[in-house]
Amino acid sequence: MDEVTLESPLDMHLHLRDGDMLAVVAPLSAADFAGAVVMPNLVPPVDTLAALMAYRARIAAACDTTRFSPWLTLFFRAYGYDELAAARSQIIGVKLYPEGVTTNSAAGVRDLHGIDATLAHLEALGIPLLVHGETHGFVMDREREFLPVFRRLARQFPRLTIVMEHITTREAVELLGEYDNLHATITLHHLLITLDDVAGGLLQPHLFCKPIAKRPEDREALLRIALDGHPRVMFGSDSAPHPRSAKEAAGCAAGVFSAPVALPALVELFASHNALPALQRFVSDNAQAIYRVTPPVRRITLARAPWRVPDQYGAVVPFGAGTSMAWQVVART
Ligand code: NCD
Ligand code: ZN
Repeated sequence: MDEVTLESPLDMHLHLRDGDMLAVVAPLSAADFAGAVVMPNLVPPVDTLAALMAYRARIAAACDTTRFSPWLTLFFRAYGYDELAAARSQIIGVKLYPEGVTTNSAAGVRDLHGIDATLAHLEALGIPLLVHGETHGFVMDREREFLPVFRRLARQFPRLTIVMEHITTREAVELLGEYDNLHATITLHHLLITLDDVAGGLLQPHLFCKPIAKRPEDREALLRIALDGHPRVMFGSDSAPHPRSAKEAAGCAAGVFSAPVALPALVELFASHNALPALQRFVSDNAQAIYRVTPPVRRITLARAPWRVPDQYGAVVPFGAGTSMAWQVVART
C-alpha cells in the first residue's frame, strides 16, 4: 500500500505553549490533526476558568479551530466541586503533575495523599484525570515507582477515567491490563527510541524528555499495544517545543518537538509492521470512545514519497530534523 487516509487524527497530549511559540506550533498541529488535548503547564499554570478561557482565545487566534479542536485541561490543584462544575463544559480533563517532575511543574502536587477530595469531585462530575506519573526517584525508575499510585487511584475511584500519560515502561503496560478505568497515551518518540539513542553516543538534547526513554524491552511492550490498537491506548505526541537555545545548552530543557512529523512517522512505523489498520484506532477512534469527543471531520492522506524534515520550525528543532522520511502528507481536507 502506497497511500493511506486517516480520519480525523487526534493528538491526545500536546504542548502548544503561548505567545510567539504558540503562533509557530499551533498551525502545524492544526494542519495534520482534527483535535488535541492541550496541556496546561504554562507559566503561571492554567488553573482557573478565566485563565483557561483566555488561553482558548489565544489558541483560536493562532490556528483554525473550526478544523482543529483544542481540548483544554486545567492544571491540578485542590478544586471545589462548584468550581469544577462550572468549568466542566470547557475542559476535557484535569492534568496532575507531581511537584517539580518536569518542565513547568513547580506548582504541581507535593502530597499525593491530600488530593482525594478533588478526585471525588472529578469522579462525580465525570471529568477525566490525566496524570504525569513519575516520582522523584532514580530517573530510570520514576515511572515504575509511581505505578502504586495509579493502582490506588484506580481502586479508590472506580468510575474515574484515569489516563496514564506518555507511558514508557513494560510495567505500565502490564498495569493497564489490571483495571478497566486505566488508560494510556503513548508518544511517537517512545515507540522509536531508547535511552541509547539519547545518551548512548554523543548526547542528543533534542531527544531528551520526561519521562526519559527507557530500555529496548520497554519500547517493545509499548509497540505491541500500539500496533494492536489496544482500546485503552491513544496516541499523544507529548510534542513539547523549546527554543533551540534552551535545548542546545548546559542544562537542556526536557521535551521533544514531534508534532510536524508525527503522522508521517506513525504511518512509516505501522506500515513497517504491517499494522496500518490499527493506526486509525490508535490515532483517533480509541480516543473518541475514551473521552466521548467528536472531532471535526477531517481526512488526512499520506503517500509513500520521501521528504526531508526541516532543520527548524521557527526557533525549534523538530524530531528527525534533517533526516529523510518515507511518507508525507499529500492531502488534507
Ligand atoms: C514537557 C514540557 O516541556 O512541557 N516536557 C517533556 O519532557 N515531556 C512536560 C511533560 O509533559 O512532561
Ligand atoms: Zn507533556
